Amino acid sequence: MKKLLLFAVVALMMCACGNETKNETNANPTTETMDFLELTQQRYSERFFDSTKMVEQEKLDRILEAGRQAPTAANKQPQRLYLLKSKEALQKAQSASFSSLYNAPVVVLVCYDLDSTWHNQRETLLPEYNSGEQDCAIVATQMMYAAEEQGVHTIWIRGFDAGALQKVLDLPANIIPAMMLPLGYPTANSAPSPMHFKRKPMEEFVTEL
Ligand SMILES: Cc1cc2nc3c(=O)[nH]c(=O)nc-3n(C[C@H](O)[C@H](O)[C@H](O)COP(=O)(O)O)c2cc1C
Repeated sequence: MKKLLLFAVVALMMCACGNETKNETNANPTTETMDFLELTQQRYSERFFDSTKMVEQEKLDRILEAGRQAPTAANKQPQRLYLLKSKEALQKAQSASFSSLYNAPVVVLVCYDLDSTWHNQRETLLPEYNSGEQDCAIVATQMMYAAEEQGVHTIWIRGFDAGALQKVLDLPANIIPAMMLPLGYPTANSAPSPMHFKRKPMEEFVTEL
């Protein structure tokens, strides 16, 4: 009986300790930050997509949802996304670009509606500030990491003529292409470029004032 009681007390204590550890882990911001940090360290620009392997719809949905959750200036949500999946659309996008789109099977074109962006009228340094590029950059960044999280590779593309892209895709004049995000799976040739490993040291990266 004494032994049984002792066993019960030890078991209870183990349970309590287990819960404590679990709660601590959930509440530990360092652990959560580490996970995201690892994701950022793991990602690299993909330049060797497997053009034959389509990104699954569920993964694509999750990527787009992550983009949809992005914050925007004054919550104006000026971003307009176009999914380029057909051979024709992909070829058109490539024709307006001086960078390769690297044969990705799907490209998300992130644009903003110039009539919907937040404008900073109190700006004295820049002539005409509108939030379009920043809003789109957050949308694209969130999609980039949602893709990475699911094993889908990406590359950020700005090597295009926005005017030519607008024209070839027949977009309205107020829809400004900001960046493209080709998505897909890597091939056997895939590897980070040497640029991926070059980052400024922390002392150069940030200045404390
Ligand atoms: C704003 C921006 C524009 C970029 N445009 C292109 C591009 O047009 N073509 C390209 O091959 N890579 C492009 N890149 C990818 C960068 O070259 C790449 O992110 C950088 O060299 C660091 O390498 P990593 O992404 O592998 O870490 C672009 C990246 C950013 C952030």
